[in-house]
Amino acid sequence: MKKWLKDKLICPECINEGVLLDLNIKEEKEDDVTEGELSCSFCKRSYPIHKGVAVILPDTTMPVISDSSGYNSKNMLSSYLWSHFSDIFKDPCATDAYRVWSAFFKKSDGYALDIGCSVGRLSFELSKTHSHVIGIDTSISFIKKARELLFKKRLNFDLVIEGLITEERSCDFDTAWNYDRIDFIVADALRLPFRKKLFSTVTSINILEKVTRPIQHLIDINRVLSEEKSMFVFSDPFSWDESVSDSEHWLGGVSNGNGKSRGIDNVASLFLGKKGIFDPPLEITDRGNVSWKIRKTENLWEYINSQFIVGTRN
Ligand SMILES: C[S@@+](CC[C@H](N)C(=O)[O-])C[C@H]1O[C@@H](n2cnc3c(N)ncnc32)[C@H](O)[C@@H]1O
Repeated sequence: MKKWLKDKLICPECINEGVLLDLNIKEEKEDDVTEGELSCSFCKRSYPIHKGVAVILPDTTMPVISDSSGYNSKNMLSSYLWSHFSDIFKDPCATDAYRVWSAFFKKSDGYALDIGCSVGRLSFELSKTHSHVIGIDTSISFIKKARELLFKKRLNFDLVIEGLITEERSCDFDTAWNYDRIDFIVADALRLPFRKKLFSTVTSINILEKVTRPIQHLIDINRVLSEEKSMFVFSDPFSWDESVSDSEHWLGGVSNGNGKSRGIDNVASLFLGKKGIFDPPLEITDRGNVSWKIRKTENLWEYINSQFIVGTRN
């Protein structure tokens, strides 16, 4: 974990704004803490830093890091490395979705937060325009890989072809990315371990439908987003799934209740101040669709229409 993160972190369990996490360094390499511990002097919980990876999760989310399936699986790593970087290693079928989302980022001397960053492409892009960038995800496999990319400044991985057959893919990274200003940590989108109003830009790309309490995700974004000169870049396919969250928690896709109607319209109303979730409200400066794809194997692809809204505060 980069040392510059130290005075930005609070405890995800007690969310006590007045108490920063204490950092105990056991091993360090230049500006990176490789072994150590963060601890909360208020609730006395501690969070490990091992091989450079800080895990700052609330108790209820902690089990996710020992699950080797889902977003921690080898196949998922291949899929997301392909999605995030296929345009750079010049795959003929590459997706340009991440360039489309990045085109909204504006020059700022503030901090940026990329929530559900996966293997980090948008965090790398955000480093071109922001003073510091923090990518967070609950997948320890993605965060380990994102940090490896950060230090090696190049990509190298085994792309799944079929079954256990893989092929190596590699490429050098963009020299305009500011690697020293980026870090990746394991943290929960529903319990962001950051002080309020810290970020001038927050991104939530294709994660709303993946969290158990979508409204809590937006409430937490409002807590950490600056009240002025800030931007929230949101995108989601709204493919609600009852195995992730009960339909009563969805923000769209049902005929009655809070989630009545289309997710994109409901989220747009929340941006504009409905229910006081975004306070102050966000002005919608852009809205549309991004064609995004995930490559699972040589023959299995997911084609996704991700609907985006860009909101700003002046
Ligand atoms: C559909 S993927 C999208 C990844 C990335 N934003 C992109 O568009 O390529 C959803 C991501 O959210 C992460 N995720 C799911 N639940 C999360 C949570 N509660 N907190 C943080 N990340 C979460 C997953 O591990 C995964 O990386």
